Amino acid sequence: MSKEKSFHMTPEEFRRYGRAVVDWIADYYERIESFPVLSRVKPGEIRAALPAEPPLQGEAFETILGDIDRVILPGITHWQSPNFFAFFPANASGPAILGELLSAGLGVQGMLWATSPACTELETHVLDWLVDMLGLPPKFKSSGTGGGVIQDSASSASLCALLAARERATHFQSNRQGCDGRLVAYASTQTHSSIEKAVKIAGLGSQNLRLLPVDDHFALRPDALARQIRQDREAGLIPCFVCATIGTTSSNAIDPLPEIGPICQEEGVWLHVDAAMAGTAALCPEYRHLHAGMEWADSYCFNPHKWMFTNFDCDCFYVADRAALIQTLSVLPEYLRNQATESGAVIDYRDWHIPLGRRFRALKLWFVIRYYGVEGLRHHIRRHIELAQEFARWVAASDRFVLVVPPPLNLVCFRHVRGDEFNERLLERLNASGRLYLTHTRLNDHYTLRLCVGQTHTEAHHVQQAWQQIQKTAAELEQEL
Ligand SMILES: Cc1ncc(COP(=O)(O)O)c(C=O)c1O
Repeated sequence: MSKEKSFHMTPEEFRRYGRAVVDWIADYYERIESFPVLSRVKPGEIRAALPAEPPLQGEAFETILGDIDRVILPGITHWQSPNFFAFFPANASGPAILGELLSAGLGVQGMLWATSPACTELETHVLDWLVDMLGLPPKFKSSGTGGGVIQDSASSASLCALLAARERATHFQSNRQGCDGRLVAYASTQTHSSIEKAVKIAGLGSQNLRLLPVDDHFALRPDALARQIRQDREAGLIPCFVCATIGTTSSNAIDPLPEIGPICQEEGVWLHVDAAMAGTAALCPEYRHLHAGMEWADSYCFNPHKWMFTNFDCDCFYVADRAALIQTLSVLPEYLRNQATESGAVIDYRDWHIPLGRRFRALKLWFVIRYYGVEGLRHHIRRHIELAQEFARWVAASDRFVLVVPPPLNLVCFRHVRGDEFNERLLERLNASGRLYLTHTRLNDHYTLRLCVGQTHTEAHHVQQAWQQIQKTAAELEQEL
């Protein structure tokens, strides 16, 4: 060991404190249900508990870790609580967390194959596995013309898809000259807001995003898509991108790919499929039908960081034609030149996404897939769906609540019969109880409650308790209002 003055943590200290941190995390999971699911702090409260100035001298690790309980935990909304039913989940698991720790320990930055071949090759391999695991078309494998890459988020994946679509439509001239206001993108009114953001960033302009009407199940209407594309062409515009969603954020609606696909093909428009949460269900053969029509898609993404027990962040993004993506995003400054790249025999993932640098995210995904096995993953996904379906049956049988739409998978949209204001108050009171956390949406312009079953440790009794709490709180409110 060096004799130079050092403030670094020694390997021996790291071992000791590392164990303390792992113990802390294990204890946290054991006591997680004792915390209110939704944090109760007021704006500014966490900052007020922090010193105004950073420490001049280093502090004892025990003191720092102690502040996790004292300062940080009150400001945590417990996404890993089995009583978390809000938004879509961002679930995690032991193997994922340990894979993440190893990734931090190795501390590699895998921008090029050469900067850590294992970082690139494991990613390629695991993403190829997932093509088979989800029943996606083989064209998305690295052995064909396409391939997969891990991105930080579905938002980034969709942006990359849009950029590649823009370039394909303009024969790579938008990259050189910028956009001229004629490119048009299409999605439904239910599409995630990340598409609007992508359209702004990519320079298409938000007025060139067409948000198309949906059917009774909140799925994009292919007839509306075909008509709008035709009208835009007649107006001299250039349709370039359609985003279809498998599992919309509001209600888990499934856009009909078998009908949307042929329209995109005929019109030469890039079809991107966003299956951020629901894609994971296709691990189970009985839900593979969700991916019917995927053979028409140019790109696809889903988030293991939502429902596949892989802690945030981890989005898997696939393209059918990797050359289009690489040509869109590639720049090669002198300092990145190297023999492996020049040989053409390797993948350099820096050309597959926006940032240059990249973390070794494939490790945690690899750990999850190996630890659970495909059957283990299927077991828990099936269970989540069963629990949500059971909840939906209770709602349907109640004379107080209505199901807004039959739930295709693990998300139930429902409302109390007494109208918007009542439902708003109900949600507020439920979340203030700390016993569970639900969020809302608007469907057919009605305030609607959402209950999504997808947290790793959610079991039947958590969903039963949630339903009891919802009924009890509604009965109290009925008395008061
Ligand atoms: C359908 C859909 N797409 C995209 C996103 C954005 O996900 P991310 O946070 O990975 O960008 C979400 C988030 O919930 C979503 O539900």
